[in-house]
Amino acid sequence: MEQTTHLEIKEISVSFGGIVALSGVSFNVLKGELAAIIGPNGAGKTTLFNSVFGIYPPDRGDILLEGKSLNNLKPNKIAEAGIARTFQNIELFTNMTVIENLMLGRHMHIGASFLSGALFYGRACREEISNREKVEEIIEFLEIERVRKMRVGSLPYGIQKRIELGRALAMDPRVLLLDEPTAGMNVEETEDMARFIIDIREEMDMTIMMVEHDMGVVMDLADRIMVLDFGQKIAEGTPESIAKNPKVIRAYLGEE
Ligand SMILES: Nc1ncnc2c1ncn2[C@@H]1O[C@H](COP(=O)(O)OP(=O)(O)O)[C@@H](O)[C@H]1O
Ligand SMILES: [Mg+2]
Repeated sequence: MEQTTHLEIKEISVSFGGIVALSGVSFNVLKGELAAIIGPNGAGKTTLFNSVFGIYPPDRGDILLEGKSLNNLKPNKIAEAGIARTFQNIELFTNMTVIENLMLGRHMHIGASFLSGALFYGRACREEISNREKVEEIIEFLEIERVRKMRVGSLPYGIQKRIELGRALAMDPRVLLLDEPTAGMNVEETEDMARFIIDIREEMDMTIMMVEHDMGVVMDLADRIMVLDFGQKIAEGTPESIAKNPKVIRAYLGEE
């Protein structure tokens, strides 16, 4: 693995009125690394993702992608810069088919160039064909061929989580933020999801930051773990060191 920093979170603080959701949190994610964020409910994990993604820009501190500040960038610009995410609560268009949802991921990625492309019908057509090919590749990769023409809302929860992952992949990101990818899943669905995450990392050369509650998944997949508690980083290290860290056991692992 290269040891260059891909995503740098520098001393960020985020408040909501009187609630300090994040307080001076720093964390570096290396290129090609899979970093996990763990911590109790309300610790600030999702807020950290929302900050990286420009939904709640930090009150203080900075977030850099390959050394460039993401400050003041809107979510669509952050997506264009190469970051994609999934949500803790699935956010898909439930009345649209699987293919349509993934095609939207493509269009999000293409943004303005797609619109200007539309002025030249031939080019727009070629772009749509290549988008469609890319979407079909992702559908095959995630083993959802059987449901590709079905309405997302009619599909089981575990499959919807997989489709949301597919939409993020359709954006062609270099950094993937996964917010509780196995939440609410049964054992088999969880194993499938873990396998897809491992494959994405290896086959697509992706940098991944993942919030996850299932400690089995975290311990198996993560190179490094950051632990948040009440908006503060209380530990950072390898899975082995985190598992035996007394502070972490007291704040989080002990409760399981
Ligand atoms: N949009 C918001 N408005 C007000 N408070 C929020 C908002 N988002 C998060 N919070 C608060 O920030 C804290 C951290 O929340 P969150 O990041 O969702 O935690 P986690 O994902 O670790 O469970 C909580 O106290 C939560 O209530
Ligand atoms: Mg959360």
